Amino acid sequence: MPASLPRSLSGIQPTAESFHFGNYFGALRQWVRLQDDHDAFYFLADLHALTVQPDPAALRDRVHASAAQLLAAGIDPERSALFCQSHVAEHTQLAWVFNCLTGFGEAGRMTQFKDKSASTGADKASVGLFTYPILQAADILLYHPQHVPVGEDQRQHLELSRNLAQRFNHHYGETFPLPEPYIVKGTARIFDLQDPTAKMSKSASSPSGIIDLLDEPGRAAKKIRSAVTDSGDEIRFDPEGKPGISNLLTIYSAISGDDVDAVVREFEGRQYGHLKVALGDLVAEFVGGFGERTRVYLDDRAELDRVLARGAERAREAAAPVVADVYARIGLVPDARGPLARGSGA
Ligand code: TRP
Repeated sequence: MPASLPRSLSGIQPTAESFHFGNYFGALRQWVRLQDDHDAFYFLADLHALTVQPDPAALRDRVHASAAQLLAAGIDPERSALFCQSHVAEHTQLAWVFNCLTGFGEAGRMTQFKDKSASTGADKASVGLFTYPILQAADILLYHPQHVPVGEDQRQHLELSRNLAQRFNHHYGETFPLPEPYIVKGTARIFDLQDPTAKMSKSASSPSGIIDLLDEPGRAAKKIRSAVTDSGDEIRFDPEGKPGISNLLTIYSAISGDDVDAVVREFEGRQYGHLKVALGDLVAEFVGGFGERTRVYLDDRAELDRVLARGAERAREAAAPVVADVYARIGLVPDARGPLARGSGA
């Protein structure tokens, strides 16, 4: 990988058996595209997934299922380092340093914590959920990435990473370049099929409002045909006035690769039902192919583990010198066994 390529870095939590259309069209597809002209690092945020105490067997399965889906989506382990966050100890090492640089009030202002802890009340939420964005800042800054492709909902966490980078640089000298969120033009925002004013989300949407990448094709098509549509009968792209139809047009465009205007022209003068049937077919074909590719990867878990191990190896090579530099700057006495002695793969 030539050193001149900008670096991209992102992570996703393995919290479900399947990623959904919102994940795919909102973020994962950008990860795949960035491989063409970036030195790419992508990881499964398994430590972040611990913040809600998942069942151990379910977590193990989901890590494999998630890795297989990333490969099926087109992440190419020859070009990208694909790894598990927990395999690279430097993430938690740097997170502790950042924990000590983050104000309690500052962490308390993170809106995702407020949202996620709302159901149980902040008193019952784990401290891990509270410090989640600080671990995320470590994930990011460890790799000095130029671009961090994430969905819109991660903007505030990215901002915290930038603040922590600036604070560290101010106190200890120029160490971390400031990462940019990479919310690409053309990233499709996908909404809940049953409530098209809310984004498609694992935690908030009902099963019929979500298309999972691993949905059985017939079921996925049925969900599209049962999607809530708007009053009136004209097919046009108008997210405010016609959120339901606009969402279907967005999904059509995202899968077919035609821009939304072209899709609108194609269905001009036709009925909602025509669009739903055509899109249902398109979606069924898409998830059918995706599911098949994923199952091939899942059938060879040993190979999946090898892919993740190679990715972790590359990630560690990038991350270990950063932690060594940080530890030295903040005044920790060097480990006499050498900077890379702590199981860092040297
Ligand atoms: N918080 C992110 C999400 O829920 C996942 C994540 C963890 C992440 N660490 C990251 C994303 C680092 C980008 C960079 O989507």
